[in-house]
Amino acid sequence: MMQEQKESLCGFDRVFDRCRTHDLKWRQEGVEAYLNQKVRQDMIPMWIADMDFGCMDEIVKAVKGRADHGIYGYCAPGAEFGGHIAFWEKERFGWKISADWITALPSVVSGINIAIRAFSKEGEGIIIQTPVYDPFISIVKRTGRVPVFNPLKRKQSHYEMDFEGLERLASLPENRMLILCSPHNPVGRVWTEDELRRLAEICLKYDVKIVADEIHSDIVYPGHHHTPLLSLDPRYGQNFIHLSAPGKTFNVPGLKMSFSIIPDEENKKAFDTMQLAMSLDIRNTFGVECVSACYTENGIQWLDGLLKYLWNNAERVHEFVRTEMPKVTMEMPEGTFLCWLDFSGYGLTDEELLKRINLEAGVICVPGGWFGPGGEHHLRLNIGCQRKTLEEALQRIKEALD
Ligand SMILES: Cc1ncc(COP(=O)(O)O)c(C=O)c1O
Repeated sequence: MMQEQKESLCGFDRVFDRCRTHDLKWRQEGVEAYLNQKVRQDMIPMWIADMDFGCMDEIVKAVKGRADHGIYGYCAPGAEFGGHIAFWEKERFGWKISADWITALPSVVSGINIAIRAFSKEGEGIIIQTPVYDPFISIVKRTGRVPVFNPLKRKQSHYEMDFEGLERLASLPENRMLILCSPHNPVGRVWTEDELRRLAEICLKYDVKIVADEIHSDIVYPGHHHTPLLSLDPRYGQNFIHLSAPGKTFNVPGLKMSFSIIPDEENKKAFDTMQLAMSLDIRNTFGVECVSACYTENGIQWLDGLLKYLWNNAERVHEFVRTEMPKVTMEMPEGTFLCWLDFSGYGLTDEELLKRINLEAGVICVPGGWFGPGGEHHLRLNIGCQRKTLEEALQRIKEALD
């Protein structure tokens, strides 16, 4: 026990028992509710986008330090909160922001919800580039707006945006907003500056507001570079909304701390007013401490280690697929800790695929069809896990297909 306590939490190979906590990813009831099916007790959960790695020591220390204080009153992040976010944006992406542009949020999805209600009306269309993070679709429906699909174009296994389709949809007066996923969950694309500019110019031309969900912006692999959309042109800052969080990068989604960056004063006012109207001006005491601990030089170092580990995992999946499951197609992800596997070579229906992989093999992946048009016959595999777990999952998938 003493030995374990002394061990640094930064070793990505260290295995944690996540079944004794309330961690949704590893709770059998949680998985069963998600799939609406019974699953094996010895399931390997590779579904929800949180990782099995321990947090960096500085976060654990900051959270424990705050917990030791013994009073957990209402929380108002001070000036240093914005300062840490500004440091990070400048350091990682060369984007100079003002702390005044930031609003603290409990989650990125709540930020999307606020933006939809602040900047569009019921019955209007919201453009979504599928296959994409499934709550984009559900939240648009739940807010009484209409999801308008502009599916990504697949060039062999590489995905691109469909700019012609976008121009057609953006030109329709009923489509008032686009939700951008950058980098893109689940296909793993890190959009280039050129792609982002083309998208933004079309949306500006037709006065379509972009809500840019950039929560995966830090998980980007060698040869690729993430560019915050709003950093590209002051006009984008005047019109569009940026959302992000340390949740994916530092594996702290349970601390419920995200933020928006909105340079335009009027837009920020409208967003903040809607946030208040929805009673979403919620700040988590520990989340605020976490931001101060992670958006630092130490955070950069820790992230470097994480990216190496994830890259090795991605390469391993790619190699395994190539040599052991040649009927599966997979492109190396440019970013995110998600692999997007195409099983259409097996000729199975989506139900059969789910039955074989999720239920029989007990490797819990997200069914591709849940990400909207274009996701059929795919599974999304979360590789934010120890190599040992990954090996067992791959072996089980192969056996299920054999
Ligand atoms: C693209 C994207 N946005 C948002 C989220 C969720 O973020 P939050 O928990 O801050 O709402 C996820 C989680 O998987 C995601 O992939």
